[in-house]
Amino acid sequence: MAKKIIPWYQPQTGSLERKLISQVLKSDYLNEGEYTTRFEKETAKLIDAKHVIAVTSGTIAIFLSLKALGIGAGDEVIVPDLTFIATANAVDLCGAKPVLVDINPNNLTISVNAIKKAITKKTKAIIPVHVSGRGADMEEIMKLARHYKLKIVEDVAEAFMSKYKGKYLGTFGDAGCFSLSPFKVIMTGQGGLIATNNDKLALYLRQLKDQGRPRQGTGGDDIHPVRGYNFKFTNLQAAIGLGQLAQLESRLEKIRKTYKQYSNKLISKNFSLFEFNIDSGEVPLWVDGWTKNRNKLSDYLHAKNIGCRNFWLPLHRQKPYRLADKNFSYSIKMSSQSLWLPSAFTSSSKDIDLVCREINSFFK
Ligand SMILES: Cc1ncc(COP(=O)(O)O)c(C=O)c1O
Repeated sequence: MAKKIIPWYQPQTGSLERKLISQVLKSDYLNEGEYTTRFEKETAKLIDAKHVIAVTSGTIAIFLSLKALGIGAGDEVIVPDLTFIATANAVDLCGAKPVLVDINPNNLTISVNAIKKAITKKTKAIIPVHVSGRGADMEEIMKLARHYKLKIVEDVAEAFMSKYKGKYLGTFGDAGCFSLSPFKVIMTGQGGLIATNNDKLALYLRQLKDQGRPRQGTGGDDIHPVRGYNFKFTNLQAAIGLGQLAQLESRLEKIRKTYKQYSNKLISKNFSLFEFNIDSGEVPLWVDGWTKNRNKLSDYLHAKNIGCRNFWLPLHRQKPYRLADKNFSYSIKMSSQSLWLPSAFTSSSKDIDLVCREINSFFK
């Protein structure tokens, strides 16, 4: 019998998703519609946001937010060097220049000092990324934003339902951009959400995602006050999202439990977990840690059928955004030493115990 694989992450759908999808199919209204609106309203309520606008992906959520905030050619947007490349690609898509800065090695999020050094006359926005569900230093970042009159677009792709100092991530800045791609607490195959408390911005985002119309039209004699595109989120996707929401509480509970289990059971001094502040509401979506033996540990775990994932390469070392190494010492170091441990809400506590035992025995 093939040995059981403990996955790094595992999306899951259930009977409610199937029931809701079949309702949508029966209605023959597969376009963006009432299920989309329901999903937007429910997610907005969950994170205490005035508006949530559903779009086709997290990348497009960031692109549209920047565009709606008036950012484009000639502008600079500050982005951490250690993130999924989508963050920088979204800046590129709106015509602005992503300015990469180093990270804080203790929590893997954007370094406030590095932001300060990177601000120029052309800087229009900062995109803090809440890596693995862990909040960037939003207090200091919001102070900088007020001082320099910069826009803040939070990349909350990995941090749905995660709180920083008691407030939901994604609701600090002008806009918060969530991803609904598969390795998230809830997913719709592909999809994204934009949270904002700004009425004007919300209206403009709705226009941008639907051909410049403020409300859904027929394609006939609609009024299009502004230019817009098509990044609509269909009833079919929303049906999956609504079904996923029914599992949210139990998933969040399991995610917290898994992190606590790792932090209690991993005993080697040669392996450190990055901490989460569970008491203040952080959600450890992906449990991450670091060791000087990262590559060997990763090979060892894979050989034991335990899924893990090495950290992203620093963006400044990827061809489209290539820069010299000199300003990125922490992102270079942490990228090569960090990995994500199995974090699937479908994994049992027995599975996580086994992973801990294997990691402890690797370092023995
Ligand atoms: C930090 C970060 N930003 C942006 C994205 C992009 O989201 P999407 O894949 O929905 O476009 C992701 C995706 O997982 C991500 O992890």
